[in-house]
Amino acid sequence: MNQEISAYLARFRGRTYRDIILPPLGENLADSRDAITLNTHFSTNVPLKQPLVSANMLDVTESKMAIAQSLEGGIGIIHRFCTPDRQAQEIGITKRAHNYLIENPYAVEASATIGEAKNMMSQHKVGSLVVKDSNGRLSGLLTQRDVRFVDECECVSFHMTPRKPVKGKRGLIAATLEEALSVKQVIEKLKQNKIKKLPVVDVHDNIVGLISAKDIERLQKYPLANLDQRGNLVVGGTIGAVGDFIERAQELKKKNADVIVMDVTSANSTSVKNAIRSFRKQLGDYELVIGNIGTAEQAVALIREGVQGLKIGIGPGGPCTTRISTGIGVPQLFAILEIYWNLIAKYCYKPEQIPPLCADGNIRAGCDITHALLAGASSVMIGTLFAGTEETPGESYEKPDGWHKRYAGMASIEAAIERFTAMGYEDPITEALKKAPEGIPLEVKIKGSAKTIIHTLLGGIRSGISHRGALSLADFKKQNPFDEETGFNILSSAAQRESYNR
Ligand code: XMP
Repeated sequence: MNQEISAYLARFRGRTYRDIILPPLGENLADSRDAITLNTHFSTNVPLKQPLVSANMLDVTESKMAIAQSLEGGIGIIHRFCTPDRQAQEIGITKRAHNYLIENPYAVEASATIGEAKNMMSQHKVGSLVVKDSNGRLSGLLTQRDVRFVDECECVSFHMTPRKPVKGKRGLIAATLEEALSVKQVIEKLKQNKIKKLPVVDVHDNIVGLISAKDIERLQKYPLANLDQRGNLVVGGTIGAVGDFIERAQELKKKNADVIVMDVTSANSTSVKNAIRSFRKQLGDYELVIGNIGTAEQAVALIREGVQGLKIGIGPGGPCTTRISTGIGVPQLFAILEIYWNLIAKYCYKPEQIPPLCADGNIRAGCDITHALLAGASSVMIGTLFAGTEETPGESYEKPDGWHKRYAGMASIEAAIERFTAMGYEDPITEALKKAPEGIPLEVKIKGSAKTIIHTLLGGIRSGISHRGALSLADFKKQNPFDEETGFNILSSAAQRESYNR
């Protein structure tokens, strides 16, 4: 088996995505390609509903992009070219963008005045407040409709919908925590009682949360939304391996980032191993993905340090000049194949012991994703395709041939200037110029919403999976990429042109 795998791998050494193609396989079983499920993982404990990840790059992922990715079932990783505070704030904005159960909802005491309640509503920009008694138990609900035209000195308790029925007024409907866990039951309760807000209480009537019909409607609009256990969008943030990386990680943790990505130039080095150990000491088993790597040997060293995910890609990205500057790199398809299959054949890992692998860089269309996934990746990280979309940070600017946005390599001088500025350096330009750049600043034409791109890519992957006779990504990944007839076919240069030159 080992020898077979190394012979198969030898055929693919030096090959990348557009060197290969997959033939159709078996019967197309899917009635509709929308029925094909794409569930996968970014890291051991971070599931995805589809395999797209937006890159942790200055000009790609802040909260707006992360929200779009997560609503569509993937994940965005917030970049670190800013202060830890600002980065954590972006995580917080993403988390708050989608609520199912609002924990610790804004609450006013039943004895407060309407003036105080109105102030609270306008300060927090909310249209309703739960009302609590002096012991923190649910006493009622106060909405903007209840306070309109009411004298500010009057008492909240006279105008709220009270928890207990009074003078023919029916009591406030609330849900138990158990009921709240079932979206179906909650919808039924909101429908039956024709209400828009549902406070959630424990057995002693203590306020636990609040559910809003508007949030559920949003949830239904995004059936693939990737939510954490609290019903908030899933999101990650990046740290480095030196300087303030532990403080940064702690800020991200405070905002409940689902995963932290340690972004390093040389992942298998003593300093990075020490950084992982400090991370573990300070943050315990917090979900950690590390990258980038290009060989199985590097993967083993990091898996032994207990990471929950690995990012693959030495130099394949659009704005990367690593290979040009250094002469070092691994063609991306071969890197994925070699890492995944040598972990099994040479290092004796069972597939379930391999943390999810994210293929980072050089994704240009659905075909590259289909091939990365069959090669062994669980997800793909994308910069170029999402650059220039409405969801990216930064301003667009006009040139004679249309509107553009910057797309700077993370190891470019431009990105280094922004990082040193965020780090408070007095002369960030001089500091940045001391670094040998391994990236360039590109510019891309603006291209509408990232959501359209996500839909196009997912449509392509689903269609590819159905051409291979599978009904899910999980089943597709069970197929053998090395099979002489049904696996990856290596293309002649004429066949490459026929396949991909458009
Ligand atoms: P795409 O091809 O989607 O790739 O644009 C995005 C990935 O490229 C990597 N990246 C860099 N690599 N120098 C590098 O060697 C750089 O300046 C640089 N900037 C981005 C990164 O892995 C990203 O996710």
